[in-house]
Parts: sequence; C-alpha cells; structure tokens
Amino acid sequence: MCGITGYIGYREAYPIIINGLKRLEYRGYDSAGIILYDGKEMKMSKTKGKVANLEKKIEKNITKTGTIGFGHTRWATHGVPNDVNSHPHYSESENLAIIHNGIIENYDTIKKELISRGYTFKSDTDTEVLINLIEEVKKQENVKLGKAVQIALNQVVGAYAIVVFDKTHPNELVVAKLGSPIAIGIGKDNKEFFIASDASPFIEYTKNAIYLEDEEVAVIKVGKSVKVRKIKDDSIVDSKVLQLQLNLDQIEKGGYDHFMLKEIYEQPKAIIDTYRGRLLANEGIIRMAGVDDNIQRFLNADRIIIVACGTSWHAGLVAEYLFEDIARIPVEVEYGSEFRYRNPIITNKDIVISISQSGETADTLAAVKMAREKGAFVFGVCNVVGSSIARETDAGAYTHAGPEIGVASTKAFTTQITVLSLIALKLGLAKGNLSKSAYQNYLHQMELIPNKVEALLNINDKVKHIASIYKDAKNFLYLGRGFNFPVALEGALKLKEISYIHAEGYPAAEMKHGPIALIDENMPIVVIATKKGHYEKVVSNIQEIKARKGKIIAVVTEGDTTVKEIADHTIEIPETEEAFTPLLTTIPLQLLSYHIAVMLEKNVDQPRNLAKSVTVE
Ligand code: M6R
Repeated sequence: MCGITGYIGYREAYPIIINGLKRLEYRGYDSAGIILYDGKEMKMSKTKGKVANLEKKIEKNITKTGTIGFGHTRWATHGVPNDVNSHPHYSESENLAIIHNGIIENYDTIKKELISRGYTFKSDTDTEVLINLIEEVKKQENVKLGKAVQIALNQVVGAYAIVVFDKTHPNELVVAKLGSPIAIGIGKDNKEFFIASDASPFIEYTKNAIYLEDEEVAVIKVGKSVKVRKIKDDSIVDSKVLQLQLNLDQIEKGGYDHFMLKEIYEQPKAIIDTYRGRLLANEGIIRMAGVDDNIQRFLNADRIIIVACGTSWHAGLVAEYLFEDIARIPVEVEYGSEFRYRNPIITNKDIVISISQSGETADTLAAVKMAREKGAFVFGVCNVVGSSIARETDAGAYTHAGPEIGVASTKAFTTQITVLSLIALKLGLAKGNLSKSAYQNYLHQMELIPNKVEALLNINDKVKHIASIYKDAKNFLYLGRGFNFPVALEGALKLKEISYIHAEGYPAAEMKHGPIALIDENMPIVVIATKKGHYEKVVSNIQEIKARKGKIIAVVTEGDTTVKEIADHTIEIPETEEAFTPLLTTIPLQLLSYHIAVMLEKNVDQPRNLAKSVTVE
C-alpha cells in the first residue's frame, strides 16, 4: 500500500507529482506529502488526509518550483496518520529525504542502535529509521548515496519501494524495491525520468518503463541511463525497457461519478477483452498459452490449490465449483495469509493457482513463493501486467480487465471468473469429463455473457430504488447456494467495505444453523435464487425468511413467478448455464452496494481504512 511518485528532469516537478499522487490515491489516502528541490533547497510539505488537503497546504507553505521531487500518499502501518508521520521523511542532518511504501520489520532494533549513536526521531515511522540508517552508513563507509542505500537495505528485514534524495549530490535519485512495486518511466534521450508505484502518474509523458525486480537498486541521473544493480551482490542488472499499453482514458472517470460505477459498467467490455483470442466458439477451441504449454501438468495434477485474498478469494471459490464440476479435479481454496503460515502439504503433483487483481497482494505473493519452493507448479491469474505475482509464477493468464481504480473490486471479479471458467472448460474437455456438445454449448453460452451483462445493467434504476429503501439498515444478510454461495460472500463484502454496513454472506442452507436468529422485520436479506441452482431448496429458505418477517431482495432468473410472489423485491437476470450465473448475479449486488454507499455519502472509491493494493501482511 501507499503510492509513491517522483520526477527528475527539466520540467517543473510539482504538477507531475501532484497529479501522480491523485492517480495513486487508491493505494492509500491517510496522509500525503511532497518534496521539491529547486537547485538550492529542499522544500517539504505534508499533511494528514488526502492529496486535496496537501494541495491546499502547499499553497500556503512552500513555493512549487523545482525540477526534482517526489511525493507520497500513505496507508498507515507504523504510527497514526498525522502530519508528522506522513512521508517524506528527512534524515537527522536533513541532507537526505525518503519516501517509502512497505514495512521495515526490524526497525525497532535499528532505531535503538541509531539512538545510541545520537540520532533523534520526530515520527513513529519505520521509514524515518531507514533514512537515518542510510545516513549513518553513508557517513561510516564514506560512500555515495546509491551504495549507502544498498548497504543499508542489506541490513533491513521487510518490504520496500523507496525513493531517496541527497541534497549534497542533487543530480540523482536512488530507487530500490523488495516486495512493493516500482516503475521507472524513461523520457526521451534520458533527459527526464519518472518514478511511480504504477505507470499511471507518467503515462502521458512516456510509454517506456523499467519495472524493478525485487532486491534491485537503481541510480537515476539525468542525461544517463538508469543503472540497476542487485542489492545483495552488487551485480549489474540489464533491465528490460517495456512498452506500456496503458492509456490516459483508461485511468480517468470518463463521465461517471465514481470509478466503481465506471468499472461496473465496463464489465461487458472487460469480459470480451478477457476472452478475446482465447474463446473461439465457432471453432470449438479455447486457446490459452499458459495452459496449453503446460497441459500435461494440469491433466496429471492430483489437485488444484487456489490461493487469493478478498474478492479474488471469492473468485477462487467460484472456481472450486467450476473445476470440480466441469473438470473433476479436486480443489482447495486458501486465503494467502493462512496458507503461507500453516506448513501446508504441497507436492509436485499439485497445481497452485494464485488469483490477484493487483498482482501485488503480499499474502498471496508470499504463498506463491512458498508453493514454488515446495515444488508446486504455480499458475497466476492477475490483472496488472508485469506485477510481482505475474512475474513470480511459472505460467499464467491475464484477465485484461483494464485498470481497476475503485478500491471495491468489480470487473476484476467477473474477469477472473471468465478466465477460470475457460480453464475449467478446457480441462473438462481434455480430461473427457465434458462431452463435445456440452463443451460447445458452454462456449456459445460464454460468448453471450457480455451482452447479457449489458442488458442486466438496465436494472440500475430499480436497484437504486431498492437501495433507497434499505440504505439505513444496520445489518444485511446475503444468501446463495452452489456457484452462487461465493457471490453471496462477495455481495456482503462489497456492502461492508464501501457503506460500512455490517453484512454477512452465508450458504442459504446454513441460515437455519444460526443466522436465522437475526431475522426480524428490520433485516434485509439478499437471496440468490436462480432457476438452476438448487432452486426449490432456496425457495424453501425464502419461505423461512418470510415466516420471520425478513425483507427479501431476491435475484432470480428471468420469467420467475414463484419467488416473485413471496419476495419483497425481485431482480431478474438473463438465463444462462448455472456455472456462469455468478457472472450475472454479482452485477445487481455490486450496484446495490454502490447506491447504498452513495446515498449514505460514503467515499465509494476510497473507503476508510482500505487500500487497493495490500502490500503488507
Ligand atoms: O489485488 P488482489 O486481487 O490480490 O486484492 C485482494 C483483496 O485485497 C481485494 O480483493 C479486496 O478484498 C477488495 N477491496 C475487495 O473489493
């Protein structure tokens, strides 16, 4: 978490940095800060709160000139979000300054040592410890900044993406990475360089970028190429310059009030982009290089273990149903955070699939690394191209959802399910569990999904009306069965994270084992009751809710009459294969949480305490 961005070159750095911070605000928004170097002095401004607060403060306290600078938007780890704990941080002498995304785990030991050497600390952060360690190394070893950063980083345990500046050698920035992402945009003829947690802050200036790998440090000097070395052994790295595909439209709101709404509406296109070139329905082919190249491994796998967090974990649960039902491969779905710490039994006949929109989630990434060490073949389903998980895995398939900026994941979920469905179908056919005609039918049905999602989005006004009735409820229950049980979990998560209303997802049949006690006339219950998914059983559950006066919002298949008679509200989804219903049933749930959050005047795109990319444990 935390967004970092920097500039060194010939332009005024301020507008580049401040706009960059706005684009990176999804990564954390507890506080923000900036440093500019104008050829004589470093000018720092930082404050609790959002980048907009920072802008106001800067108007009053610093001049905005300087062609070198960097900025930070924070998701607090060490130290409460206040002005002092905001980044950047100066070293003791105030010659060095740093911004940092990550955690220095052994900061306390280092801090004590530095205090014994006379250092004082203004903040409670691990970052201030790191910049003073760099200063101490620089002094003791009498080395340049790049070398000092390298030596210091060899002493720290944790994760970092850092940018460091030394005003006594003001022609360079030093950047380093372990665990947290960092991209370096390269301007024409090396006359300017951009640094950022992702490429969005500099996309209008350059499409050429280097993504640092873990344990690399780069020294960036104007007029020279970027020099990258391995932190551990000092070896020179020949980093690849990538051509970025991202464009500005993709990271702007495009007329929508919120990124979340834009991203909900982008789902038809995102699903098409995800299956384009892979799903060749007329030819009866699913082409996925990552699977094709490793098909024997998939076919011989004893089981598939899925690791993920949050919404991606919910997509993993849908995949459990898909793989077991269609491909008849046993599946276990694990939270990255639990899996990595519980000494799991993994063999080289296991396939681990890690699912992550950002490709940076620390727990999922650690699980990937551990699974590979234990000999499993690891397959990544990521959205962000070139992300850490995408790079750490043996093979994979991107979701091609385009940038997802809203903290609440929407199009990432449906595109993850799209990719996972294609894999399940491919394996189902190859393993002989799926007849050619059933397979063919699935392919055609999948092709129809984007149009069905498009049509379904017309329910927006109806969902908005339902939202207006229940927006003040204190609790919500979400129920679903089979393929739609994970959708119930996802619906509850969406509501919780952006409206702060307590919500729980449950398998519908589990309701009578406890949650039913909560039901009274004030409790809205969202029930997914599509035609093919244990319909009669879910109808019985709906009756049980009705008998206790609960308010029923039912998601049903088009043309349903039975549930309509019992439920307080019904939302119809187009008919499709049961396995694909999550791609449709999730849409009204996304819209419901969106409208409730808007009506409650919550910050939809940047809900409190959250960040888009969770790069800490
Ligand atoms: O980038 P990832 O898919 O790995 O992120 C995992 C979760 O942090 C993420 O899905 C989170 O739960 C979302 N805020 C949910 O909307």
